[in-house]
Amino acid sequence: MASHSSGEEPWRVGILFSQTGATAIIEESQLKGTLLAIDEINAGGGINDRELVPIVYDPQSDDQRFALLAEKLLIEDGVTTIFGCYRSSSRKAVLPIVERRNGLLWYPTLYEGFEYSPNIIYTGASPNQNAVVLADYLLREYGARFYFVGSNYVYPHESNRIMRNLVQHNGGEVVGERYVDISAGRQQFKPIIHDIKRMQPDVVFSTVVGDATVHLYQEFFDAGFDPKILPIASLTTSEAEVRRMGADVAEGSLAAAPYFETVKTACNKAFVSRFKRRFGDEESTNMCLEAAYFQVQLFAKALADADQMDTDLLRSLVLGSECEAPQGTIKINESCNHTDLFTRVGRVDGTGRFQIVQESKTAVTADPYLVYYGCGCPAAFH
Ligand code: ACM
Repeated sequence: MASHSSGEEPWRVGILFSQTGATAIIEESQLKGTLLAIDEINAGGGINDRELVPIVYDPQSDDQRFALLAEKLLIEDGVTTIFGCYRSSSRKAVLPIVERRNGLLWYPTLYEGFEYSPNIIYTGASPNQNAVVLADYLLREYGARFYFVGSNYVYPHESNRIMRNLVQHNGGEVVGERYVDISAGRQQFKPIIHDIKRMQPDVVFSTVVGDATVHLYQEFFDAGFDPKILPIASLTTSEAEVRRMGADVAEGSLAAAPYFETVKTACNKAFVSRFKRRFGDEESTNMCLEAAYFQVQLFAKALADADQMDTDLLRSLVLGSECEAPQGTIKINESCNHTDLFTRVGRVDGTGRFQIVQESKTAVTADPYLVYYGCGCPAAFH
């Protein structure tokens, strides 16, 4: 339903990031990135002189609650735009609801790709912007024997399917693949660490999410592996999880992401200092928080032009739009609703910061179906 500009009325948008539960550790940071962007827009006079007002709910890291709250936002609260979701299972729970109600979900999280909805704008990395780059780096620098550990839901399974294809396609092998509950404690990682010792891989590839990440890395650290020889490499571990586990535990581990707090653009330096001023020096930014931040700016630009919360009009204005994000200049790719983003690989140093060891010079075109990489179809690998 379109709501037209009427003087003093604020613009209302829905926000769905978990403040409690298994993945609150990262979703709370996405909430902060979203709120910072909204505060800054309002401090600058709002959008066409109208304030932007967030309606914030806590889905408690529960996919069904995501679905219920999305419905509530679109029906009872009458919003058309939602910023939210981290886990792919929550995005998949919200997808049919935004499609049925013609809402627009802005999704600021890396994911497995192979999806398109006209009602979702995807601002996190697709596999060609993180998995392809990480596989290449690890095969070159560490070796060919990979061991996969993931949380037991759609993203890690799908991400590992892609990573397995990439590794095998390039002459490597997967020597183990294990999954743990979303809310796994340390105990669940003990037999996995035992198996890693037995299999002696060159790399542990983690798609564990949330609090469980801290338990995996802690068990791995306690087992005494030397990360120079056998690192954990991940697409889901960010500054948020590293801060929780501590620099000593995380040192030497690797991640691929469009953004790290250490990115050296002037825009990022200013962004990090504004973020810390608002939320405290002990807080850090991360890839999911940055996407949560810049996507609100892109939305605001489109809304200023549309001057109405009409999904079809907003989408048409958003597609092809660009902004100067902390990671560099990024663009919403009009062919697929995904975002052209930078690719980076970082290694955690002794202070818990990701030192960037490889990065693209410009944004890399989003290729959520791995078409241009030549491997959209698994058969193409063999
Ligand atoms: C994820 O579930 N997309 C991290």
